Amino acid sequence: MKNIFLIGYMGTGKSSVAAYMAKEYSMEVLEMDEMIAMRESMNISDIFANNGEEYFRNVETRLLQEICTQENKVVSCGGGIVLRDQNVEEMRKSGMIVLLSARPETILERVKDDTSRPLLQGNKTVAYIREMMDKRREFYENAAEVVIQTDGKQIGEICSEIFGQINKIGE
Ligand code: S3P
Repeated sequence: MKNIFLIGYMGTGKSSVAAYMAKEYSMEVLEMDEMIAMRESMNISDIFANNGEEYFRNVETRLLQEICTQENKVVSCGGGIVLRDQNVEEMRKSGMIVLLSARPETILERVKDDTSRPLLQGNKTVAYIREMMDKRREFYENAAEVVIQTDGKQIGEICSEIFGQINKIGE
């Protein structure tokens, strides 16, 4: 099996879906932000604060390149992975790109108590999230081979939809 790359804005459920796939389907999951934090011995907020976003993006791209040499993985990507065309090309060659999406109101509800996302610290409003999502929309939509709306759905339902869509493409 090729890899499955879960992409989407922060709070669209990539990590929850990946964790469910690991538990219920015994799939091997790679959580990119966790791997980056481990490699850098720093959490994501500290990497942004100490080294800047560009540094983070370089680490992210390098890690993705390594992951793309592997197979049979579910990869939970950071929300900004699509911002570099090079990343999207690598993912396409190495597997299927699945976009999870949600309304800004849903995102806010999911991230409101979280402090681990530097780009949302101090910016937790529907208006801010909507504007940032709008700026990124083209990147997400151009990258995606499968799109799954997650609002109001259970994780199991989202996973079934993902596998259904992937199988349809494979037929
Ligand atoms: C980012 C999303 C985060 C993390 C970093 C930047 C983004 O990952 O990679 O804070 O630019 O959207 P999640 O989407 O897992 O929150």
